[in-house]
Amino acid sequence: MEKVCFLTWFLFLGIMGCYVEGLGVNWGTMATHKLPPEKVAQMLKDNGIQKVKLFDADHSTMSALAGSEIEVMVAIPNDQLAVMNDHNRAKEWVQKNVTRYNFNGGVKIKYVAVGNEPFLTSYNGTFINITFPALENIQNALNEAGVGDSIKATVPLNADVYSSPDDNPVPSAGRFRREISDLMTQIVQFLHKNNAPFTINIYPFLSLYGNDDFPFDYAFFDNVGNPVNDKGIAYKNVFDANFDTLVSSLKAVGYGDLTIVVGEVGWPTDGDKNANLGYAQRFYNGLLPKLASNQGTPLRPGFIEVYLFGLLDEDAKSIAPGSFERHWGIFGYDGQPKFPIDFSGQGQNKLLVPAQNVQYLNQKWCMFNPNAKDLSKLADNINFACSNGDCTSLGYGSSCNILDANGNASYAFNMYYQIKNQDDLACNFQGLAMVTTQNPSQGACKFIIQIVSSSSSSLRSSLVALLSVVLYMFLF
Ligand SMILES: *[C@@H]1O[C@H](CO)[C@@H](O)[C@H](O)[C@H]1NC(C)=O
Ligand SMILES: *[C@@H]1O[C@H](CO)[C@@H](O)[C@H](O)[C@H]1NC(C)=O
Ligand SMILES: *[C@@H]1O[C@H](CO)[C@@H](O)[C@H](O)[C@H]1NC(C)=O
Ligand SMILES: *[C@@H]1O[C@H](CO)[C@@H](O)[C@H](O)[C@H]1NC(C)=O
Repeated sequence: MEKVCFLTWFLFLGIMGCYVEGLGVNWGTMATHKLPPEKVAQMLKDNGIQKVKLFDADHSTMSALAGSEIEVMVAIPNDQLAVMNDHNRAKEWVQKNVTRYNFNGGVKIKYVAVGNEPFLTSYNGTFINITFPALENIQNALNEAGVGDSIKATVPLNADVYSSPDDNPVPSAGRFRREISDLMTQIVQFLHKNNAPFTINIYPFLSLYGNDDFPFDYAFFDNVGNPVNDKGIAYKNVFDANFDTLVSSLKAVGYGDLTIVVGEVGWPTDGDKNANLGYAQRFYNGLLPKLASNQGTPLRPGFIEVYLFGLLDEDAKSIAPGSFERHWGIFGYDGQPKFPIDFSGQGQNKLLVPAQNVQYLNQKWCMFNPNAKDLSKLADNINFACSNGDCTSLGYGSSCNILDANGNASYAFNMYYQIKNQDDLACNFQGLAMVTTQNPSQGACKFIIQIVSSSSSSLRSSLVALLSVVLYMFLF
């Protein structure tokens, strides 16, 4: 098997790094305070990450990736799929968001993701009729632009597009969901014709979530307790079983050999009783060596292209799927690594290289004022703080569930205050709150300080640019 090793210079120390080849990450940006894209791009390079999957084609992100050797999957969000049913608009999209970056020193785009899990059952069919035409238009536009040989359109799908029947729950019985079976067949044919991969998101964590009957160890890779036996094949983890259910579904429609890319796989670290640092570490400690060894799955031995989900925590994501949704990062919101991880896949567990020169707001927190007399409005104020700020760490099984009632109030007030960039007016709550310079964190429950976000720092750089122009005019 191949591995890529190289030297990175970090803090004047040469650190020899080896990385699982082909390992990618998902870089989502649904955060109230985004790390500046240049810092994220540098962090990717410092950690030897060679592939990144995006959820749009934001120009600032793309600019930060320009000139790097990082391979990129750009994306068309679901709400733009309808527009992409117009062939000319699809051409325009490809021109503005793909071919524009296709020059020496530009962005190494490898895939265009058309939609994001558009057939999710919870979308009630909203994107059923508009996804395939969008896929066709985008790939055709790529082909017409002369880049179709190296850039492929694909549709990242949720694993709920296929399953095995309840009375025969084994991978070999996998089939596409009945009501979309014809559609899936057409999509698969089209992908095959264009040499494009099938992209699937697989979440062992979600198999556990809300299903206390699920065999716990089967979500990880280190327990052989009770394998699922499928015609002599022993499945020891749900990742393999799920992947091979897809292989069987593809085979059933005549394309058992179609290339499969795992678009998302990972484990969240907060917001649920099964979402914590220990389990996330256990999961990655099994997944990464498995990927490094190129063992693949029973039905697909060999290399699998995989994108971890995700790079950073995103505090502005919808928590409709669950409170864990904002805690998928292998790095925190501020680009600090959360736990040691084995990117070499060879038992070299170590902390990843953090984002460099991150600017934080001041060392100030907002907390519940213990001298407050009238507590009748406390609940309303906490609700207000939590409907704007992120309180997902307070719930059952989460990192801040240890707090008492006052601690809960402080946590909520602080999250709101930080989101509002520590504006004094955002730490009042009808006299129930006060600013403190003493860190109120308790054990694993961290009271955060927000970062200076990308929007405010780009404002700063425009001001600097403006000042230099003025200075230039003054001097010459
Ligand atoms: C290019 O992508 C950006 C970001 O996703 C999007 O806002 C824009 O509409 C796209 N351009 C065209 C011409 O569709
Ligand atoms: C799908 O339908 C359910 C039940 O009718 C509804 O609660 C939900 O809001 C719908 N979701 C979307 C995205 O339309
Ligand atoms: C999709 O198209 C079918 C067949 O034309 C139609 O019956 C269905 O209502 C459409 N679905 C949506 C969500 O537009
Ligand atoms: C703190 O808030 C969480 C989430 O709302 C709740 O589950 C917990 O019971 C609260 N703790 C106290 C002591 O009120």
